[in-house]
Amino acid sequence: MNCFHNMIAAAAVSFALVTGAGAEVIKVAHADNQAHPKHQAFMRFAELVKENSGGRFEVEVYPSGQLGDERELVEALQTGAVHVTSVSNGVMSAFAPQFMLLDIPFSFGDAGAARGMIDGSQTLLFADLETIGLHGLAIWEQGFRQVSSSAKGISSAEDVKGMKLRTMEAPLHVEAWRAMGANPTPMSWGQVYSSLQTGIIDGQENPLYVVTQEKLFEVQKHVSLTNHIYDAMPVIASNDWWSSLPEADAAIIAAAMAEATTYERSLVEAEVEKARAELEGLGVEVVETPAAEIAALKALAQPPVIARIRATLGDEPVDAWLKAIGQ
Ligand code: PAF
Repeated sequence: MNCFHNMIAAAAVSFALVTGAGAEVIKVAHADNQAHPKHQAFMRFAELVKENSGGRFEVEVYPSGQLGDERELVEALQTGAVHVTSVSNGVMSAFAPQFMLLDIPFSFGDAGAARGMIDGSQTLLFADLETIGLHGLAIWEQGFRQVSSSAKGISSAEDVKGMKLRTMEAPLHVEAWRAMGANPTPMSWGQVYSSLQTGIIDGQENPLYVVTQEKLFEVQKHVSLTNHIYDAMPVIASNDWWSSLPEADAAIIAAAMAEATTYERSLVEAEVEKARAELEGLGVEVVETPAAEIAALKALAQPPVIARIRATLGDEPVDAWLKAIGQ
């Protein structure tokens, strides 16, 4: 954490902050912009919590990494400086390795299969988070990740070779792209636009609506539909804060979170639905990477990633997971 973040942490270290109006503050922070479904869903969560608690709680939502990047935000939950965040699965797996299972590339043929697995695995994924000062509230998502690039799209597995591709700071993503022949470059999101603009990187990977919302189409003329990761975004709370809540208040917050989760997913579906046409309208080439080429990329990417997860979690959970996802 830098000095700014430390100051915020010091100011917010009590988990029972109270507003001038006497409401208890729930501090929510995330790294996405205000157009992102995550932010919209947190705003809905804020309304619901306020309404259903009769104004006893006030949810303050800090977007765009104002209180830190995703890794720092999970750390801020552990110190109690932030109460709730939602981060990318890749970042979460650095704290709780069971989340690595969701980062096996090319696991899901469609969003329904991914969502079914995500929902069916919450108990496994949230197990033992309390031991590291965290509590799992929900799993949001941002849809399938696709590749955007400056020079050409991915029409064949060969096209990935040598591509300087920005990945999240998620070791399994780096491993997967390296195995596919790319030159993966992990960096925080804040640096991506300028790095694409200056040519430090050739491409990045994210759901298509991130390319429109973040105006990456100004510097990326091709997107390729690779569906390589179905992007889960766990919503996590500070366990000190969560376990301090009276049962009735925890129930109000959990119910608001359940409703916000349904809302978040509907927003993602709507964004995914319109992003392709928007990009085409903006002159971006949309390449449907052929199924045989996806299969070739999968054959390269999965073995080292699965080996790494086995080395961390052991064979049994990995075998059970692979069986459940039909791999
Ligand atoms: O690529 C990332 O870092 C994430 O997907 C993003 C764009 C910040 C959304 O969570």
